[in-house]
Parts: sequence; structure tokens; C-alpha cells
Amino acid sequence: MQQLLSVQNLEVSFAKRPVLRQVTFSLAPGETLGIVGESGSGKSVTALSIMGLLSWPGRITDGKVLWHGEDLLQLPADSHRQLRGSSMAMIFQEPMTCLNPVYTVEQQIAEVLMLHQGMNKRQASEAAASYLEQVGIAEPKARLRNFPHELSGGMRQRVMIAMALAGKPELLIADEPTTALDVTVQAQILDLLKRLQADTGMAMILITHDLGLVAENADRGIVMYAGEVVEEGTVSELFETPAHPYTQGLLRSLPRWGEQQDLLYSIPGTVPRDLGAIAGCAFADRCPLSSVACREQQVMHMLSPSQAARCRMVNAQVKEGVAR
Ligand SMILES: Nc1ncnc2c1ncn2[C@@H]1O[C@H](COP(=O)(O)OP(=O)(O)OP(=O)(O)O)[C@@H](O)[C@H]1O
Ligand SMILES: [Mg+2]
Repeated sequence: MQQLLSVQNLEVSFAKRPVLRQVTFSLAPGETLGIVGESGSGKSVTALSIMGLLSWPGRITDGKVLWHGEDLLQLPADSHRQLRGSSMAMIFQEPMTCLNPVYTVEQQIAEVLMLHQGMNKRQASEAAASYLEQVGIAEPKARLRNFPHELSGGMRQRVMIAMALAGKPELLIADEPTTALDVTVQAQILDLLKRLQADTGMAMILITHDLGLVAENADRGIVMYAGEVVEEGTVSELFETPAHPYTQGLLRSLPRWGEQQDLLYSIPGTVPRDLGAIAGCAFADRCPLSSVACREQQVMHMLSPSQAARCRMVNAQVKEGVAR
């Protein structure tokens, strides 16, 4: 099956500081991929690079972003912009990043519908109400007349999702979509995204630092650490047989339901700031298994057709480890 999206060896620097190294993963139509990692691991930069929204001094220095097999990084800026908001859309933790405070909800959704679905003004106004209904907003006609600041955080999140859907995307990137919301609203928004995905067949990239959200909502996941993908696998592989010591540490630091835990485990040490100064495994300084050999560049080792980890110890675990 042809992949919808294939990111290959993506490298990004801010000024001269490298922040992404050899980021590689792909996504099939309709699939949900979770991206997890600590703050600063490069999740948002990866998403912004795919969307063509990386801003100065951020620069893609190498790699490919294939969309239906075509490299987006070679497209003129105009064509990439055309895809954004239609074929691919992104929602953010803070809805005000993409909602304009001086326009009503109706004007903002209608604009997307006119631009990407070719509707006229009257058609767009009518359709805007039905998009609000789809995302679970009560009294949609009345809400259309509101400005963003008149809505609650959860409602603004729903409006942003409605705007994203109005472009009929094949891919929705949700970057920490629920972090700013309280727990019950979080659950409602995630249920909503799942339902919309089932209705529309769109693929989704769910970015979060919460492994639990990936377990509940994704088919597959990638784990990022200091700008690199350190492990990828199906959700059951990542949770049942995590291979990279970093993934194992992340799982140990999750609170477990029904288990007495006086103190929650946390991985000792901190994420390195300067990726450029590290030739080998970026996790080596914090890793209980590290040795001198980890100071050399590490590659991904396959553990199954769907699971791979960037760790030389994994290679030792697998009889016929195939480096890629
Ligand atoms: N505008 C910018 N200028 C300079 N450096 C940046 C900029 N945006 C991101 N970075 C750097 O790129 C790296 C990756 O950042 P990114 O925002 O992708 O992290 P993240 O995984 O999304 O973290 P979080 O969980 O906090 O959202 C970090 O080291 C960050 O400092
Ligand atoms: Mg981020």
C-alpha cells in the first residue's frame, strides 16, 4: 500500500544548532500515529516541517517529506500552502495560535470553506453551522456570531477542529491538542477526534508527552529523544516489549493503576541541550546500559517488521538484527 506520508532522514537546525537528526517515519491512509517525547525533543518542529510552517531561524537542512510519494520540500511555497488547510491540517495546544481574535467564528470557518471547498458566501455560512454541530457545539447558529474570546477553552478547541475539518483533510496533525484543558474536556475532545476520524477516514498524527494518550488512541507510535526517533512500533510493541532504554524508562515513570507507588520513578539526568556536540547516542549519559561503544553514531535496529530501536544493545538482543 502506498504511504500517505513518508518522512525520510529529516534534519532541521535553528541558526546553526541542529534540533532534528535523521527523523524517519511513515503513515498509511487512515492510520493514527502517536509521537511521544519530553519537552524539547522535536515533536512540534517535526510537525511544522511537514506542514511547511517552520519559521526562521529554523531551516530544513536535509531529508524528504513525501506526500503521496511527492517531495513537499521541493514544492514551491504556494503549492505547499495550498495543501495546508485542505489536504493536511494542524490543530494546536493553544487555539488562539490559529484563531483570529478580530473575526467571528462564522467568518473564520466560512473562509476555509470558500478557499478549499469553492463555496460562495451564503453556502459557506450555512455549512459553517453544520461543522460546528459535527464537533459537538450546542446552538451552533448562535455560536457562529461569537468572537473567539467569548468562548470557553474547550469550545475554542472545538472551533479549531471544525476549521481543520472544513478543509476535508486526509491528514490531521494534533499537537498536544488537550494539554491546556481539564481532564473531562480532554477526554471529550479525544473521543470527538476518534469519531471524526472514523467518519472521514482521515489519518492522524497525535503529538503528546502523555504515553497513556498514545496507548488509547494510536495504532503505532514513535518515541523521540533529543531530536531523534529512538524507537518505533505498534502500540502493543511499545507498551509490552519496549526495546530502547529510554522508552523503558518512560514506561517505568508512568503511574500504574491499582499499584502502590510511594515515589514515581523518574529518569535521572536531563536532556542534552546541544545535539551538535553529540556524535553517538544522545541518551547515553542517562542510560543504565551505556558503554564506550554508545559514543559512536547509532542506527535503528529492527526487532520485528514494525518495531525498531536506535540502540546497539537491541542489536545484541536480536539474533539477526538488520541495521537500516
Ligand atoms: N523558534 C525557535 N527558535 C530556536 N529554537 C527553537 C525554536 N523552536 C524550537 N526550537 C528548539 O527546537 C527543539 C525542539 O523543539 P520542539 O518545539 O519541537 O519540542 P517539542 O518536542 O514540541 O516540545 P514540547 O513538548 O515542549 O512542545 C528545542 O531544543 C527547541 O529549543
Ligand atoms: Mg511542542
